[in-house]
Amino acid sequence: MYTANPSRYDKMKYNRCGRSGLMLSALSLGMWHNFGSGDNYDNMVDMVTTAFDCGITHFDLANNYGPYAGSAEENFGKILANELKPYRDEIIVSTKAGYGMWAGPYGDHGSRKYLIASLDQSLKRMGLDYVDIFYHHRPDPDTPLEETAAALDHIVRSGKALYVGVSNYNPEQTQKISEILRKLGTPLLIHQPRYNMFERWIEDGLQTVLEHEGVGSISFCPLAQGLLTNKYIHGIPEGSRATKSHFLTPDRITEDKISKIVKLNELAEKRGQSLAQMAVAWNLRGGKLTSVLIGASRPAQITENVAALDNLDFSEEELNTIDEILK
Ligand SMILES: NC(=O)c1ccc[n+]([C@@H]2O[C@H](COP(=O)([O-])OP(=O)(O)OC[C@H]3O[C@@H](n4cnc5c(N)ncnc54)[C@H](OP(=O)(O)O)[C@@H]3O)[C@@H](O)[C@H]2O)c1
Repeated sequence: MYTANPSRYDKMKYNRCGRSGLMLSALSLGMWHNFGSGDNYDNMVDMVTTAFDCGITHFDLANNYGPYAGSAEENFGKILANELKPYRDEIIVSTKAGYGMWAGPYGDHGSRKYLIASLDQSLKRMGLDYVDIFYHHRPDPDTPLEETAAALDHIVRSGKALYVGVSNYNPEQTQKISEILRKLGTPLLIHQPRYNMFERWIEDGLQTVLEHEGVGSISFCPLAQGLLTNKYIHGIPEGSRATKSHFLTPDRITEDKISKIVKLNELAEKRGQSLAQMAVAWNLRGGKLTSVLIGASRPAQITENVAALDNLDFSEEELNTIDEILK
């Protein structure tokens, strides 16, 4: 059985999540890739324990992570039981429902029926009585937001989640569900949007809503699935995500992207960082995000990315250079 590093809290930063009482580690670890049924279990254990030893307290899942859908929760449940049992109260576990999970009209979208059943299934897979954060994974245009919000409120009141969040909601949807949840007495804790140097949509309205509503935020795909590292500069390495996931296909690694990545990499080197570290630091600049939700395929990537915390400051000139490169 694993014993945690006694100095695990020394180097990590912890940020308050919106106006809540909850602090999240500045980096969190997500299990979308590399935690499925076909992945190596020992490597998963190494990644989770390495993250925890670095001070990462927050682990992010969803009902459909795998493949097969549900297997990432099963694997994380096994790791929790075998390695992290004594540390449950030091850990924030998140899961989500909102994408297609099982057949028929009740296994997708945002109804009360789906959300409550899905969380019950997630808890069983992870062997948990409760999760810390339960998210609605994506907006559902056909279910009234009032119904989705009431389901989230019910889930908290029934003790199956401590807090609730939304993901992929636009600024208007976020504003509306935040107002409904506040009236119900279960404030929206957090929003989980895609955000990285290539995808900056949250700067156009969402961040203003979140600040105004006192809601925290955690960016997913902060490294654009690995593009914002030095790994694709000289071609597509065997075993990288672009060789095995349909979410990052080689046709998305264009010459234009690579020329930007090369310039960003040069700037990162001048800062004494790897590009992955600069990408993490850039997400955390100005203190707007609560946490950056990284993925990893091996433990060394996690230690490298956490070391981004050694240099979070950007000069005006560096930020302008990044904007110029990204234009
Ligand atoms: N809410 C949503 O709709 C949603 C959607 C997507 C993701 N998410 C969450 O966000 C989490 C992170 O997403 P993501 O995995 O796409 O994040 P990411 O951090 O942008 O990409 C992670 C991938 O980049 C590569 N990488 C990481 N560190 C590296 C380093 N230092 N050097 C070289 N390569 C490195 C690895 O891929 P290789 O395999 O190439 O090594 C790793 O799996 C997910 O696990 C999930 O929890 C949420």
